[in-house]
Amino acid sequence: MNILILGSGGREYVFTEKIAASKDCQKLFVAPGNAGTATIAKNVNINPTDFKGIAEFSLKNNIDMIVVGPEAPLVAGIRDYFEVDSDLKNIQIIGPGKAGAELEGSKEFAKSFMQRHNIPTAAYATFEKHTLSEGISYLQTLNPPYVLKADGLAGGKGVVICENLQTAEQALTEMLQDEKFGEASKKVVIEEFLSGIELSVFVLTDGEHFKILPAAKDYKRIGEGDTGLNTGGMGAVSPVKFADDNFMEKVESKIIKPTIDGLKKDKIDYQGFIFIGLMNVGGEPYVIEYNVRMGDPETQVVLPRLKSDLLSIFKSMKDKKLGQEAFEISHDTAATIVLVAGGYPEAYEKGKVIKGLKDVENAKVFHAGTAQKDEEVVTAGGRVLAITGMGDNLEIALKNAYAGANKVCWDDIYYRKDIGQDLMALDA
Ligand code: AMP
Ligand code: GLY
Repeated sequence: MNILILGSGGREYVFTEKIAASKDCQKLFVAPGNAGTATIAKNVNINPTDFKGIAEFSLKNNIDMIVVGPEAPLVAGIRDYFEVDSDLKNIQIIGPGKAGAELEGSKEFAKSFMQRHNIPTAAYATFEKHTLSEGISYLQTLNPPYVLKADGLAGGKGVVICENLQTAEQALTEMLQDEKFGEASKKVVIEEFLSGIELSVFVLTDGEHFKILPAAKDYKRIGEGDTGLNTGGMGAVSPVKFADDNFMEKVESKIIKPTIDGLKKDKIDYQGFIFIGLMNVGGEPYVIEYNVRMGDPETQVVLPRLKSDLLSIFKSMKDKKLGQEAFEISHDTAATIVLVAGGYPEAYEKGKVIKGLKDVENAKVFHAGTAQKDEEVVTAGGRVLAITGMGDNLEIALKNAYAGANKVCWDDIYYRKDIGQDLMALDA
């Protein structure tokens, strides 16, 4: 099979490595990819939302399958674009169509979906510019902290948590009246604050059957002790100890099954990943958000634990035969440390020479924001590399990951030193 992967981050690097390892993989392309994917596959300079460019490339290169990494092409309807074209409709797309991608593309859609299908989530109400005053009255009925969410995609910045009523009223006004997040904040979801421990659960579905991938915990803040600005993710671990069999059974029966059944009832033929952000509130799971793709950097700890052939799994989804596929998961723990450019998630420099990549032992180096410049690999993004360590337990996995991270350097490198420490403390 000839496969095209869309995206350029650490998540897509892992997909590239996994798919390249399959016996069924003939030609493998990544658009646009990074310096790492170029060593495994062929990078092509096409933007993942340039559907016309992707379609032309796919026909010219006899592509059989497109694996969509990020959400933007899914929310913009890449699957629908291919399905309605007689020349393109046989190319299998891993990722949902526009209707299913609304689970991530619109918070209001996701909340009403959960309400309709009795899926546990925080109580909420939605407001627009002309209902701003009702929104302010609604805030006054809640207890702090206040959770405000821009309805649309806002590059991971659309969720604002306010400690007091005054800042919440101000934030709501800025989002609705001043259109702080542009189109994305034309509607704002206000919801009840959930207090607990977060984790991410990943499901792959062909629309009929589903398989649950290992759960992971992501570290979103830039600073140690979960302080400072939100980022795309500074590290992750899998499995997550507190997501034991009892908790995961609740997740499956109260959240995953109703989600898959809900999609069917709503006549949404969903084929792809569902990434469910959960809060464990006193042992009960509540959905914080749906994403319609894998997580980054969660993929860097989830897929290294999957022993089965990922391409064979993807292929089976075309004929809705996912139920017949083996999903063998390693008992090892995986931990990943994301190495970022100094300044990220705000302004940062690019083009710094990365040293020590070949010195990393007992850990996997997953490229994200990297580029090849002459003979050298240089930084080309905020999140530059993810280093994944594995082991019999979290302590060993972290030791391997940090030993790897310590070997790599560039001018202004930064990474958190406390990934996994909260989970180690739970064990102690
Ligand atoms: P999101 O962009 O939807 O992932 O939200 C960003 C972060 O905001 C989440 O990872 C949570 O930490 C936090 N968050 C979102 N919704 C809630 C909620 N209802 N209660 C508490 N924290 C929340
Ligand atoms: N790590 C969070 C995400 O991929 O959205």
